[in-house]
Amino acid sequence: MELKEKIEKTKEFVKEELGEETTGHDYYHSLQVYKNAKLILKDQEADEEIVLLACLLHDIGDWKLHGAKTAKQKEVKEFLENIDVTKEKIEEIRHIIEHLAYKGPKEKQVKLSIEGQVVQDADRLEALGATGIARAFATGQKFGQPIHDPKINPSREYTKEEYEKQYTGERKNTTINHFYEKLLLIKDQINTPSAKEIALKRHEFMEHFLKQFFEEWEGKK
Ligand code: ADP
Ligand code: NI
Repeated sequence: MELKEKIEKTKEFVKEELGEETTGHDYYHSLQVYKNAKLILKDQEADEEIVLLACLLHDIGDWKLHGAKTAKQKEVKEFLENIDVTKEKIEEIRHIIEHLAYKGPKEKQVKLSIEGQVVQDADRLEALGATGIARAFATGQKFGQPIHDPKINPSREYTKEEYEKQYTGERKNTTINHFYEKLLLIKDQINTPSAKEIALKRHEFMEHFLKQFFEEWEGKK
């Protein structure tokens, strides 16, 4: 089967699996990650099949969506076998997806293959720029957190466990803090030069947004 056809079939599979998720892990998020990867691959050599399929599949079985990341792994593996992806590539795709997630600044990240690095960059780019801002407020709404509260300061010192508390509402935070705790740090965690270039532009856009936000907040504009 040609790569083009594999990609079309994978898009259909992902569309069915992700369905109606509303905080930035829907089908269109996967499609955007795929598009980001295509941009990155213009200047970065890597196995296209591994990268593009991993991008499309990366959020299937996400623990925040289904409770257990591993629950869907068997299904994804069978799907890939059915579209003639080799055993070696399936293993690589599975490994990438498993090690993609960000668990807070103190958590040590596993060193990924170049393909994994491109997928990770493509996913991280989604947290930046106009898309990143939109996703942050959508997620903030899901967690029931305020947009901004000057009494709650951002923290950079929390552990993986503390970071995950925001998903359960145990740790009260604000969406504006999320920019300082995570989003503004992402540009320095990008692996590949071609993704870095895109990240810097999206970073600048977020800084611009925050500057305007605080000027409005303080009644200056
Ligand atoms: P990923 O797409 O890498 O799986 P996450 O699941 O961690 O990212 O988060 C999904 C989106 O929600 C991202 O854009 C992220 O910035 C945003 N997000 C995560 N935690 C918060 C939070 N506490 N407040 C606002 N936005 C958040
Ligand atoms: Ni993602």
